Amino acid sequence: MCGIIGITSIRGNFREPIGKVIRRCLERLEYRGYDSVGIAVIRGNRIEVRKGKGKIAEVSVRLNFDSVDGETAIGHTRWATHGKPSDENAHPHTDCTGNIAVVHNGIISNFLELKEELMRKGHVFRSETDTEVVAHLIEEYLKMGYKPFDAFKAALSRIQGAYALVVAIAQEPNRLYFARNTSPLIIGIGHGANFVASDIPAFLEFTNTVIVLRDGEYGYIEPGKVYVEKDGVPVNIEERIRLISWTPEMASKEGYPHFMLKEIHEQPIAIASTLAGIDEREFNEVVNAILNSRRVFILGAGTSYHAGLVGDYLFTSMLGLDVHTFISSEYRKYLNAVNDGDIAIAISQSGETIDTLVAVRALKERGVKVVAISNVIDSAIPRESNYTIYTRAGPEIGVAATKTFTTQLVVLTVLALKLGLALGKITSNEYRGMIDLLKKTPDLVQSVMTNLEGRVKALSIYISKRQSAYYLGRGIGVPLSMEGALKLKEVAYIHAEAYPAGESKHGPIALVEEGYPVVFSILDDDNVDALLGNVMEMKARDAYTIGLVPEKYVGKFRDLLNVTLEMPNIDYRVAPIVYVVPMQLLAYYTAVARGYDPDRPRNLAKTVTVE
Ligand code: G6P
Repeated sequence: MCGIIGITSIRGNFREPIGKVIRRCLERLEYRGYDSVGIAVIRGNRIEVRKGKGKIAEVSVRLNFDSVDGETAIGHTRWATHGKPSDENAHPHTDCTGNIAVVHNGIISNFLELKEELMRKGHVFRSETDTEVVAHLIEEYLKMGYKPFDAFKAALSRIQGAYALVVAIAQEPNRLYFARNTSPLIIGIGHGANFVASDIPAFLEFTNTVIVLRDGEYGYIEPGKVYVEKDGVPVNIEERIRLISWTPEMASKEGYPHFMLKEIHEQPIAIASTLAGIDEREFNEVVNAILNSRRVFILGAGTSYHAGLVGDYLFTSMLGLDVHTFISSEYRKYLNAVNDGDIAIAISQSGETIDTLVAVRALKERGVKVVAISNVIDSAIPRESNYTIYTRAGPEIGVAATKTFTTQLVVLTVLALKLGLALGKITSNEYRGMIDLLKKTPDLVQSVMTNLEGRVKALSIYISKRQSAYYLGRGIGVPLSMEGALKLKEVAYIHAEAYPAGESKHGPIALVEEGYPVVFSILDDDNVDALLGNVMEMKARDAYTIGLVPEKYVGKFRDLLNVTLEMPNIDYRVAPIVYVVPMQLLAYYTAVARGYDPDRPRNLAKTVTVE
């Protein structure tokens, strides 16, 4: 996955060494990978590289990034794919002369052939990475007499795969080359400095004026110039310049110990902003497109898939639509079944998850219309879709999705309600009532956090000592439980499994013994009595029962639950937005109690751009 950044500035622009600036930018990209980190700075007519295995905080101090000065620099934070995490495999990678430095996110699929070819020509490789071939290829073309930009383009014509690249060449100290193919890359236009990075928060401290690059585009930045080309033809970028509303504070922890906790606490505002940002025309277009379709396919990965399952529940049970929801990477199953009468809703907070992007492309090829739900403007999935609805959660830095999940639920619920109204499945009174309820969810989420955070924190001590947990629910409580279990697994490394509560008797209950934690999501729907039976079954096996229970049913469940987390009495269709919050907090505090960093869970990356 990896995060990359390049900066080129006029002398004295930052009033601090560029090594320090780039270190801060990298900290904001660290969610994309944290196996190793490195920087390269053009100094005089040579390039100085400092890099090593480990997290930014440690490596940047050990190698004193902050002291390196210059005007032009590149940086990288790595999530290993080719070659284990090590000092040698850390980026930037250089050519034989040390005058060309490259940072890369993605995979160069034909690197082995290129490496052999280059080694035969006498190039000496120092890493096991696919990236290093790019530096040597450029070196080769420079040796052949190409000018730097031409050498860069010639190198691009030789490589295949997914990449976002930034290249520094010592002989051009005020320029950085870049290229995008599948992996995300965004240009930031600043004053006296220009930036190119994997994600906007990297340079948000300096500018909110951006151009999102598209596949196949490449070019260069200089302190006062951005040049983009595609297939040898200059691209008119003026019309693609966007001012984004994210602020630097949104991308900093603002006193919270972790981004995950900050982002959980930002949910009231993220939900309110998403509701306030609803564009009626945009929604109506999507509603009409769905009404004119035969079937609805919903796809996503990870948390976005769980949001899709909540949408599926609403679309199926409330609206009676023909809905099929699948994990993006399993799209092949459906390719023979879909056609131009169908519509797909692709959910991706980043808009860049490759599994979802590849599925979207395959569905579109078969004539399926695609609606994207995303949090990142102009990202790949929205760009390739027929319609897009944006959530307005602000930047999400913690690897575990929190506020983007609840805002995705808001969008899907509004969509379901509008469809319900259009189909005559709900009355206009009911519609207005539900919209009013949605508007109350920011306050409800806030009060749940205020009332329950301390109790959830206390509960996390118990959970932190267990090796496994179940999350059970019925109906819309099933995807909600799946999301709760995923959070615990992701950040606290505790095996957690979600099941439809009724199914728990068909296998999972075999594992239950004294003290085994089982988290029940009890909603105000027609499953309450059946769930009561399931809680009893677990209690009879001495499980440690935890229940999220609507206030009005607290009495009914009290004697059966070791821990009762009282929830507001709220229509079950809106409940997941509120109920997921204590589960997020439980995962967060359990991770902290176990001594883990919830912002950087091992082996995970926020945006997965490899299949
Ligand atoms: C990664 C992240 C998850 C996320 C999933 C889908 O696996 O670790 O938190 O839910 O990708 O991401 P997307 O950006 O497509 O919603």
